[in-house]
Amino acid sequence: MTSTPAETTRNDTSEADEWISTHKESINERYRLGYHLMPPVGWMNDPNGLVYFKGLYHAFYQHHPYTSEWGPMHWGHATSTDMVHWVDRPVALAPGDGSDRDGCYSGSAVVEGDTLNLIYTGQIFNTGDIEPFNSDFSESQNLAISRDGTHFEKYAGNPVIPGPPSDNTQNFRDPKVWKHNDTWYVVIGSTSAEDDARALLYSSPDLHTWQLEGNLAQSDHKIGNMWECPDFFELDGMHILMMSPVGLEADGHRYRNVFQSGYIAGDFDYQTLQLTHGDFEELDRGHDFYAPQTFEAPDGRRICFGWMNMWLTPMPEQKDGWAGAFTLPRELKYVDGKVTMTPVKELESLRGSVLTDCERSVTNGDVIVSPDENRFELLFSVDNLQVHADNLGLAFDLGNGIKASFVYDSGQELLTFDRGGKDGERSWECGTLEHLDLHIYVDNSSIEIFVNNGLATFTSRIYPTAPARVTLLSSTDSVKAGIQSYALN
Ligand code: FRU
Repeated sequence: MTSTPAETTRNDTSEADEWISTHKESINERYRLGYHLMPPVGWMNDPNGLVYFKGLYHAFYQHHPYTSEWGPMHWGHATSTDMVHWVDRPVALAPGDGSDRDGCYSGSAVVEGDTLNLIYTGQIFNTGDIEPFNSDFSESQNLAISRDGTHFEKYAGNPVIPGPPSDNTQNFRDPKVWKHNDTWYVVIGSTSAEDDARALLYSSPDLHTWQLEGNLAQSDHKIGNMWECPDFFELDGMHILMMSPVGLEADGHRYRNVFQSGYIAGDFDYQTLQLTHGDFEELDRGHDFYAPQTFEAPDGRRICFGWMNMWLTPMPEQKDGWAGAFTLPRELKYVDGKVTMTPVKELESLRGSVLTDCERSVTNGDVIVSPDENRFELLFSVDNLQVHADNLGLAFDLGNGIKASFVYDSGQELLTFDRGGKDGERSWECGTLEHLDLHIYVDNSSIEIFVNNGLATFTSRIYPTAPARVTLLSSTDSVKAGIQSYALN
């Protein structure tokens, strides 16, 4: 049964909308991004409720409009015809109703008939202190419904899942819903009583009544003690459980951010509801990638957006009245045992003037591209790496002594992005590479590097004072490189 607005309760977003419209002009623009989704003002974290509904892509996000700090969570909302150009919409969910008194936490969206359904975590801080790492809380799963894709009413029967099973801690959040045959399923991030991360699985005939089916997977003391923002989907014949583990210790070049995100891949049997899977693999190798969520585009592509920031690390834009952005939309594929991410083809619509288009010999220090604005796309490729240098890559000069680099070290079999400053390096043990194909997007205060058709990605925020001047870094005489670059609109 689909609920009607008569069965819903209030969801008063007017105060938040009013605040946004009177304060969005007052932010400092210096670090604003040109073609990434950001909040108009205030704070953003996780992507939520990614969905295609009635001819538009909808993106929702964790939002605190009133300050550039995390606070009582709302759901911000934007729509797009192409996943590239976004239009801000009124706030979709405001906290304060019963089970979401202190926040509307992360969740997902599904279309049923002509309704758009948001399934989200309702947050209550038992002590009344609303702050992100306060551990005395209660979490439940809740539903909100819209027919027009703009106004959402909370279901009067909320919460639809009041709390976690008894052999669990209070961690119980970030529902991701999908339909298989005629049954709805939801995966929810959680923690066992033994402090082991787990993904709980429930099923439902109607999105209102849910039955616990057990654990879809569990960390077994290896993958942290909480899996935030789990997501479960089929990709090229594999079943992927993507999640953002909390509590993983750094291990060599791996797990160097405060929290991680990655996946396990395997086979899921809908009869027995058992997932057999391989080891955990990180999804992005940069500094600022967390809480990724996916959805299926109308043409069947599996698209992913992440939050392009990291908890508990400095965000210079906070001084400017805003914080947080989504990554670019990325198409996922499963290739040779790995999930790959490549920028969606729709991004080509951003291309303005061609800055470079050539194949030529370049030596250390040669300028690869020197755009007038820090909004550009660069494709850089070198074949026959084995014949070439021990070190080969690109240096970015961003003005005022701010420098970054991206280098392949064939001796150590490492790819390293260094954004400078404290804890600047992130590396990936790439093995021996035959060729290097870099697809790079720079958008004022962000850089996204896609390596060898999405085999690895490095996503980081970086805060320049001038447009990047990109030069070659090489320890041999000369290399033949393909170089294409575009200014982006
Ligand atoms: C992940 C997360 C989620 C939670 C949300 C709160 O970044 O901690 O687990 O729902 O942020 O804003």
